[in-house]
Amino acid sequence: MSDSVLLTHLKAATMVDTASGYGLIKDAGIALEQGQIRWVGQIHDCPAEIAKLPTHDCGGRLVTPALIDCHTHIVHGGNRAQEFEMRLEGASYEEVARAGGGIVSTVKATRETSEEDLLEATLRRADALISEGVATIEIKSGYGLDHDTELKMLRVARAVASARPINVSTSFLGAHAVPAGADADSYIDDICIPTLKTAHAEGLVDVVDGFCEGIAFDTAQMRRVFEAARALGLPVKLHAEQLSNIGGTALAAEFDALSADHVEYASDADAEALARSGSVAVILPGAFYAIREEQAPPIAAFRKHGVHMAVATDWNPGSSPLGSVLLAMNMACTLFRLTPAEALAGTTRSAARALGFSDRGTLAAGQRADLAIWDVTSPAELSYGIGINPLHKRMFGGQFDAD
Ligand code: NIG
Ligand code: FE
Repeated sequence: MSDSVLLTHLKAATMVDTASGYGLIKDAGIALEQGQIRWVGQIHDCPAEIAKLPTHDCGGRLVTPALIDCHTHIVHGGNRAQEFEMRLEGASYEEVARAGGGIVSTVKATRETSEEDLLEATLRRADALISEGVATIEIKSGYGLDHDTELKMLRVARAVASARPINVSTSFLGAHAVPAGADADSYIDDICIPTLKTAHAEGLVDVVDGFCEGIAFDTAQMRRVFEAARALGLPVKLHAEQLSNIGGTALAAEFDALSADHVEYASDADAEALARSGSVAVILPGAFYAIREEQAPPIAAFRKHGVHMAVATDWNPGSSPLGSVLLAMNMACTLFRLTPAEALAGTTRSAARALGFSDRGTLAAGQRADLAIWDVTSPAELSYGIGINPLHKRMFGGQFDAD
């Protein structure tokens, strides 16, 4: 396709922040030029110079910004089906972790898997997301917990963006779990922070993340990681308040985090703090569902305080083996009562914000031409279907994927 094109015969869910939710334009046109959106509007308002562009008929379909999965752990070795069986027999996620399963068992598998094999497995997962109209993914390290494997994971994450038409934001998650037999404080100071510095020097880190929880790191330990991130000029985000409230969300807000993720146990005051810092609450219904959590995130408090809510898969081998962002949207609606408009904002505009991107996530002039064209008549259908993929075509940087 040429560099400039006018998409016609479509409905646009622009996801521009308006009261109506979707920023819907019926009888819309979208002009694209050099990988960016040049114009969006009602086709009959189309300026004369745009009307001269070659056209592409979208057949009356719905066009949205391409989806963004802003929280994944798709670089990992092995799987944890055995733990799934243990949990079905009554063990809790926390009990499995304390018994040496959980994250630490994926660490062993990830250390033992070659970089080449890790990349191959990761590309299969990225392809599943691409097939649902995803154009930007976040990928975390955190299953290495040693210098070499953390760097290996981040190199694999970067390699995904070279091997596929997708943008990748990497998060250094060295503070994901305490390695077997290690002391948490020494691990943070002697391994995690020095590894972060090397990974940053090699250009492998976009954001710094951590797991602030009773079974992982406390706020004092996370504070040291965040201070190191700040010294390197890197933004932060945090797995916070997933299983209990130990102050992670407040810490994240204090460091102007891009996001606090999970946040099931966040309080009203935590929601207020996130609103003040402009941090996004990333809702992860896959983990809530898979480990049968009972405490839902405080959606009403997030709405009351005007906290941006994103929705993501949290695709990982333990707590959320969920490879579908559309299903995450459905679960966010069904389990947490998000509206379908909130769920779609959660995988477009707010997901972009959770990664610090202002050039994607809406259909507006100047944004990247990352689009999804859907065989649906209304945007609510994207959240309504369960295990249904209505993607017609995806466009990445102004180019349609090959059929
Ligand atoms: O986001 N909460 C911590 N980290 C992952 C779990 C990873 C795992 O169980 O392997 C999560 O749910
Ligand atoms: Fe996670």
